[in-house]
Amino acid sequence: MQEFKIFPMNLEDLELIKNTLISDFDEFWNYDILKTELLSSNSKYIVVRNKDNNIVGFAGIKIILDEAEIMNIVTKKSERNLGIASLMLSYLIKLCSKFSINKINLEVNYKNYIAINLYKKYNFTEVGLRKKYYDNKDDAVLMTLSIKNT
Ligand SMILES: CC(C)(COP(=O)(O)OP(=O)(O)OC[C@H]1O[C@@H](n2cnc3c(N)ncnc32)[C@H](O)[C@@H]1OP(=O)(O)O)[C@@H](O)C(=O)NCCC(=O)NCCS
Repeated sequence: MQEFKIFPMNLEDLELIKNTLISDFDEFWNYDILKTELLSSNSKYIVVRNKDNNIVGFAGIKIILDEAEIMNIVTKKSERNLGIASLMLSYLIKLCSKFSINKINLEVNYKNYIAINLYKKYNFTEVGLRKKYYDNKDDAVLMTLSIKNT
């Protein structure tokens, strides 16, 4: 595996990838929403950089009392299937454990089997469905992970 390292994400990181968010990462990210998220005191965002110091992934959670919600997790299109999302998700789970969070929740498009596989790999279980949640068309699968705190 290439050398990938995790860092806290800041506004400069977002500015660096601003113009390539859609082309290089995914079409459903929105700069303004990400910026608001990054600035929120309840959010924890991370980036992954490769050995050339380029950002190859980012992810974020929002903490509400003793629960966290996964807001984003995305790997640069050219770098997928190299274990980057696994690195980010395992890091975030450990972080939640450190913050005494009991549960991590998320929602994912039922068609996004790659993301669902990723979450299942880390023992998230399907706990419900939100009908026609995305664009009034696709259902959202609700998944959750109960974590033991260290
Ligand atoms: C989902 C996503 C983050 C995975 O990123 P990644 O860095 O390629 O993931 P990893 O290489 O760490 O793979 C993690 C697991 O995902 C699953 N997975 C990854 N690629 C897959 C593929 N092509 N087909 C099926 N499952 C796949 C596997 O379970 C894999 O674990 P394994 O390699 O041990 O089998 C990436 O595809 C992405 O950015 N998608 C667009 C954004 C998105 O949908 N985010 C989730 C929103 S809820």
